[in-house]
Amino acid sequence: MPQPAHAPLGGIASARIDEITALHRQLEIARLRHAAEVSELRRQVLEARKLAGLGELLGTTTHEFNNALTTILNYAKLGLRHRDQPTRDKALERILSAGTRAAKITASVLGMSRSGSARFEPVNLHLLIEDVLVLLERELMKYRVQVEREFTPVPKVSGNPGQLQQVLLNLLVNARQAMPGGGRLILRLSYDEPTGLVDLMVRDTGCGMTPDVMRRIFEPRFSTKSGPDETGKGGTGLGLSACKEIVDAHRGRIRVESAPGKGTAITIRLPLQQQVAS
Ligand SMILES: Nc1ncnc2c1ncn2[C@@H]1O[C@H](COP(=O)(O)OP(=O)(O)O)[C@@H](O)[C@H]1O
Ligand SMILES: [Mg+2]
Repeated sequence: MPQPAHAPLGGIASARIDEITALHRQLEIARLRHAAEVSELRRQVLEARKLAGLGELLGTTTHEFNNALTTILNYAKLGLRHRDQPTRDKALERILSAGTRAAKITASVLGMSRSGSARFEPVNLHLLIEDVLVLLERELMKYRVQVEREFTPVPKVSGNPGQLQQVLLNLLVNARQAMPGGGRLILRLSYDEPTGLVDLMVRDTGCGMTPDVMRRIFEPRFSTKSGPDETGKGGTGLGLSACKEIVDAHRGRIRVESAPGKGTAITIRLPLQQQVAS
C-alpha cells in the first residue's frame, strides 16, 4: 500500500520547521538588537557620569578661580587708591599670592581634564592630594571643615592622575556634604610594604550611613540627596559608581566603613607602579 498519509504529514512537518526557523531568526534578531541597546545604554550611562563629574569640576573651579580673581582686583584697586609704600607692598603681596593660587587652580584643572587619556604613569599621591585640596580649600573653610593630614612617605602608585584626582574630588565632596555643620576631614596615606599596596583614606566625622545605604552606594544613580546643593554638587548618585569604576581599572580596591552619626571612612587601596609584567 502506498502511504499517502506521509506526504501531507511531511508537508506539515516541513512547514513547522520553516516556522520554527523563522521564529529562531526573529529571536536572534531581537537578541542582537537587545544587546546593541544594552551596550548603547551603557555607553550613555558612562557618558552621563563623565559629564556629571565634569559639571561638578567646572562649578568648583570657576568658583575658586573667581575668588582668586576678586582678591586680585580688590587689592589692585586698593594699591591704586593708597599711594603709601606699606599699603602698596601689602596689596602686591596679596595679588601675588592670589595669582599663584589662580595658577595652581588652572594647573589642577588641566591635570584633571587630561583624564580622558587612559595613560597610566607613576603618580605621587601627596602632590595629587594637594592639587585637589587647592580646588576645595575655600569651600571646606566655608563649611567649617577642618582638614587633617596624616601622611607617611609612600612610593608612587601606577595610575592615571586625572582619574585619581576625580576620585578624590568625589570623596572629598561627599565628606563635606556629610558634615553640613562642619567637622573634621582626615586624609591618611600609608604604605604596606609586605603587600606593596598604598592606602589613601578619606575619613569624615559626618552623618555616616546606615547599612541599607552602605549596601547601595556604588549603584549608579543611587543618592540620598534631594539634588545638587548650593555649590552645584552632589545628588546625581554618579560619584561613587564612577570612583569604583576608576579604582577597578587601577586594579585597586575601595573599602567603606561607616556608622550613622559617627562618620565614614573610605579607603582606596592601590598597587604600586607595575613592575615588569608577569
Ligand atoms: N562620606 C559620606 N558620608 C555619608 N554618606 C555618604 C558619604 N559618601 C557617600 N554617601 C552616601 O552615598 C550616596 C551616593 O554617593 P554618590 O555616588 O557620591 O552620589 P551623590 O553624592 O550624588 O548622592 C550619597 O547620596 C550618600 O547617601
Ligand atoms: Mg557625591
